[in-house]
Amino acid sequence: MEALMVLLAILLQTLLTITTTTTAQFDPSAPIQVICSGDSNYTSNSAFESDLRSLLTSLASSAPSNGGFFNTSTPDNTVYGLAQCRGDKSPTECSACLNRSASAILSQCPRRKEAVLRYDGCLTRYSDKRFFSTLSTDVTQILINVNNASDQTVFNRQLGRLMNGLATNASQDASRFAEGEINYTDFVNLYGLVQCTRDLSGSDCLSCLTGSIAGLPGCCSGKQGARLFNPSCYLRYESSPFYAPVSPPPSPPPPLPGLTSPPPRAQTTHSDGNKKNSSKTVIFIVAPTIAVLAFISAIAFCYWRKKPKKKVPLGGGDQQQIQSAESLLFDFATLRLATENFSESNKLGEGGFGPVYKASQSQHI
Ligand SMILES: *[C@@H]1O[C@H](CO)[C@@H](O)[C@H](O)[C@H]1NC(C)=O
Ligand SMILES: *[C@@H]1O[C@H](CO)[C@@H](O)[C@H](O)[C@H]1NC(C)=O
Ligand SMILES: *[C@@H]1O[C@H](CO)[C@@H](O)[C@H](O)[C@H]1NC(C)=O
Ligand SMILES: *[C@@H]1O[C@H](CO)[C@@H](O)[C@H](O)[C@H]1NC(C)=O
Ligand SMILES: *[C@@H]1O[C@H](CO)[C@@H](O)[C@H](O)[C@H]1NC(C)=O
Ligand SMILES: *[C@@H]1O[C@H](CO)[C@@H](O)[C@H](O)[C@H]1NC(C)=O
Repeated sequence: MEALMVLLAILLQTLLTITTTTTAQFDPSAPIQVICSGDSNYTSNSAFESDLRSLLTSLASSAPSNGGFFNTSTPDNTVYGLAQCRGDKSPTECSACLNRSASAILSQCPRRKEAVLRYDGCLTRYSDKRFFSTLSTDVTQILINVNNASDQTVFNRQLGRLMNGLATNASQDASRFAEGEINYTDFVNLYGLVQCTRDLSGSDCLSCLTGSIAGLPGCCSGKQGARLFNPSCYLRYESSPFYAPVSPPPSPPPPLPGLTSPPPRAQTTHSDGNKKNSSKTVIFIVAPTIAVLAFISAIAFCYWRKKPKKKVPLGGGDQQQIQSAESLLFDFATLRLATENFSESNKLGEGGFGPVYKASQSQHI
């Protein structure tokens, strides 16, 4: 378990160099993540296409009434599919998001036999191969709120506490979802949300989230907000409320005699604070290459400074403003090579978010 966590822990931190940064502008209806793949392509009007269309319809109609998650396959197992809404989304929001995904995934990944499409509020994924219960972290992407926290030391420490607590809670809950807050200053709290796809085991969920959390110091240290996501898990934090309270489970067990019932769950209503404060957000895609982590922020900052301050709303039902969008794809296999299978000797020290690793200088991919 620890080995696995260590493995994932370095996922984002061990990057030595960034080779490719691509810029893209996002329109309001754009997804935050699109991965088109597959060993072969299907042809138009094929049986596969009609199977895929019916699968996508079934996912969009079933997930909202099934607690925001549904996985299924066509009767003859030609296509497997999974849909999940962010745990704080209502069935109506979930339905709208997945309806949008069903058509977007076809237009964004035409004729592909495998695809992942994520809006901030929902995830849709299909493949001609069975992928349920399998961790998929090789394409992790990041959206950063570029505003700085005032006291970065305290901020990072509290953020690490919050996210690690949420990761543990999500991995122990059947919903694979957790949201929560922590104090940062007397007046400002940090708000976090984590989620794994519900087909994952608790330990795989924890591995996925731990890996993403371990990437935070490298990508997002002191930043007021960030989102990290891959096909298996999603995490987001902000210094203003951005999530909705989740309704308690339908039938809570009756309190046992002799025991005091737990305090009711906080039901504070959170609006999307980012709608108001026009925060600036940047997307990174990390390419499968070697990079010195320390340079990441430096490069990114130079990049941001040069960018025209063009603001484009971000999609997925989120009205956040983004300044520019750069995408960085982390390749898990490449990272493993670069860090010599994440050996203990490469461990640099423990930061507020967990162990920090360095990548071996001698390996070039
Ligand atoms: C499938 O089609 C896309 C373009 O639509 C192409 O980029 C990709 O290489 C094709 N994949 C295969 C396996 O032929
Ligand atoms: C959905 O995923 C779960 C967990 O992997 C699996 O046990 C189940 O068989 C899947 N459902 C379908 C219809 O394949
Ligand atoms: C999603 O699509 C289905 C079928 O097309 C429709 O019945 C449903 O009302 C749609 N949901 C939303 C929220 O638009
Ligand atoms: C955040 O701080 C860095 C230096 O640590 C600075 O270069 C950057 O401009 C700041 N960003 C904002 C949005 O204030
Ligand atoms: C995790 O769950 C426990 C028990 O429900 C709760 O007290 C704690 O605040 C949660 N942690 C976070 C970070 O929300
Ligand atoms: C958060 O609250 C706890 C207990 O209320 C307090 O001990 C701690 O100093 C606070 N932390 C910050 C960063 O304000």
